[in-house]
Amino acid sequence: MKKILFLSVIALAAIACGKKHAARPVPYLDTSAPIEERVEDALSRMTTEEKVAMLHAQSKFSSAGVPRLGIPEVWCTDGPHGIRPEVLWDQWEQAGWTNDSCTAYPALTCLAASWDRELSALYGKYIGEEARYRKKQVLLGPGVNICRTPLNGRNFEYMGEDPFLASEMVVPYIKGVQENGVAACVKHYALNNQEHKRHFTNVTVDDRTLYEIYLPAFKAAVEKGGAWAIMGSYNLYEDQHCCHNKKLLCDILKGEWGFDGVVISDWGGVHDDDEAITNGLDMEYGTGTNGLYGPAENGYDYYHLAKPYLQRIREGKVGTTELDDKVRRILRLIFRTSMRPEGGFGRFTCPEHYEAARKIAAEGTVLLKNDGVLPLADPGKILVVGENAIKKLVVGGGSSSLKTQHEITPLDALREEFGEAVSYERGYVGDVEGSYNNVSTGQDLSDGRSPAELIDAAVAAAAEADLVIFVGGLNKSKHQDRESSDRLELPLPYGQQDVIEALAATGKKLVVINISGSPVAMPWAFRANAIVQGWYGGSESGRALADVLTGRVNPSGKLPFTIPCSLEDGPVKSEKQYPGVLGEDGIWQEEYSEGVFVGYRWYASKDVAPQFPFGYGLSYTTFEISDAKVTRSRVGRLGNFKVKFTVTNTGDRDGAEVVQVYIAPPESPVARPVRELKGFEKVFLKAGESKSVTIHMSYQDLCYFDADAHKWTAAPGEYGILVGNSSEETPISLSIRAVS
Ligand code: GLC
Repeated sequence: MKKILFLSVIALAAIACGKKHAARPVPYLDTSAPIEERVEDALSRMTTEEKVAMLHAQSKFSSAGVPRLGIPEVWCTDGPHGIRPEVLWDQWEQAGWTNDSCTAYPALTCLAASWDRELSALYGKYIGEEARYRKKQVLLGPGVNICRTPLNGRNFEYMGEDPFLASEMVVPYIKGVQENGVAACVKHYALNNQEHKRHFTNVTVDDRTLYEIYLPAFKAAVEKGGAWAIMGSYNLYEDQHCCHNKKLLCDILKGEWGFDGVVISDWGGVHDDDEAITNGLDMEYGTGTNGLYGPAENGYDYYHLAKPYLQRIREGKVGTTELDDKVRRILRLIFRTSMRPEGGFGRFTCPEHYEAARKIAAEGTVLLKNDGVLPLADPGKILVVGENAIKKLVVGGGSSSLKTQHEITPLDALREEFGEAVSYERGYVGDVEGSYNNVSTGQDLSDGRSPAELIDAAVAAAAEADLVIFVGGLNKSKHQDRESSDRLELPLPYGQQDVIEALAATGKKLVVINISGSPVAMPWAFRANAIVQGWYGGSESGRALADVLTGRVNPSGKLPFTIPCSLEDGPVKSEKQYPGVLGEDGIWQEEYSEGVFVGYRWYASKDVAPQFPFGYGLSYTTFEISDAKVTRSRVGRLGNFKVKFTVTNTGDRDGAEVVQVYIAPPESPVARPVRELKGFEKVFLKAGESKSVTIHMSYQDLCYFDADAHKWTAAPGEYGILVGNSSEETPISLSIRAVS
């Protein structure tokens, strides 16, 4: 007995002793410890060389970790619509892997057009799963630059012309991505509203416009979305490059908004050693290659935040305060992603991902006109005409280009739906190119016929059909919807207008589907029986379109931007406004002199009728808004109020309506738009169903930005609260008095 007792005591002592000396995890490795403790501990263990190495690229899309401490590298990936194919260490060209074909989600204009916050969260969740699965810590997206001119080559990657819509739609996307332990890197901060000479354009804009139009979506991304990364843009603002712009990065982003994440340069967006150190930049990528062309062999050591920085520190020219702040932010990013407690493997191209891509593409589709020809019911013989019915559009467009396992085109889907009843004619030849960064669609779209022969063939074929569906629009080639170049005109390219006119002249019922990421002129609108604004819908784009055309999905998309009749109708007219005037220093000087009058703010205030207004979109059913009221008659500076109403589906088909709330300010010390979107709710209703809806608002929603006082304020007086289903259709007019 004594022996057992003795041995037990020994055993207990050994256990106790062992516990005392068991290797307690090193604090920064202790995933149960608060992140900030882990950050400080890891920072304290790093050498200056290790810190500097972390600040800049070591390859096309990665930056160094600290191998000695077991801290991993940081890997970034494009883009906002899907996970870019793997590239070789120093190349833009794809590496030729066979397991990196992703789910291609719809372009962000499509997501914005859905006006569906929950769908945005789903989008972010699933694209974040794919980034996690591909072992990426930073997703280089979403983009939220405002559609200031329809000509911007990258409008398709962004969320439209209104800062409130972009703010509301970007937040759920960011949260969805980051719940996977992947950082969303919101871009391009800021004022990157064109592609023309984007590296050399200096934007001049007044503070009020900056705060009211161009910053809100980034502010929401940081303050409501909790974005862990922000990407600086290529252009200059107030003569300083945005990737190291003191006012944007230090004063506003990290100062006013308290951003605790990482500022990453756009690829090749860094131009100055000292500014890169002191003006808020944390990670430098793509230098020496302007982000697009050619590998800078062994160039990584010569990045501004590489040897030049180390040299300045060693020579005592700069301290290490900025260095430690940058590294803290990067360590925080690592402990939020690759070294987060939850771990997680993500998922890649699973059925739910493709289903979500299809759902988003369908829900973002906007029905602009319909005389009853849609939804298609027993359409008889269908002639499909147009290059965008067959062209795969996921490849191309710049850094958002993707390699996907499959891309269902509109013609594929219509044939799946209607079989032999569907015939096809090209109608026009646009861009036969089908590859980008060595990713190819595998299509041969060459066609030697002349435009006249193509039109004749389409017209002849139409004679045999009961219905014609024209599928055209833009594509991802130069001077279309593509990075690093802008469009040159508003009308459809490649003579599509002639094709539409010729098809309309046949007298056959004509449905026109415009696939684009930007507004196009539609002078032919009166000739079509129906018009659908489709988007770059990704892997399932064709099926999503068929879902809408057949009525499987009742369209509920609303335009995220105005479709003007002409560029001249719009706010951006002079060369100074766009593309700017080239100075002797090689910099294009551009003035945002239209101020806050962007998009519908301009058209509504100048009473210029657009072709189709912001927020507009039809349904196959009808809705009624009733019993609308504001819950109080007056509101003070800190006050809130609610707008309540009932929405009824008065038709015979389930559907969804987006009810929008615009404020109409009284006379104010500054010129204000006659209406500004400040609330919306997407309401799904069965046929005959009613729902009461409450939109929560506050005094802040009535405010403009007083640049002189540097604060938001609302002039005392009666504010219109306009309720409707587009920026031009607000039949319900309520009011509230702001008391300062
Ligand atoms: C590009 C783009 C940016 C992209 C980056 C990496 O030039 O401007 O959006 O994320 O480089 O490809």
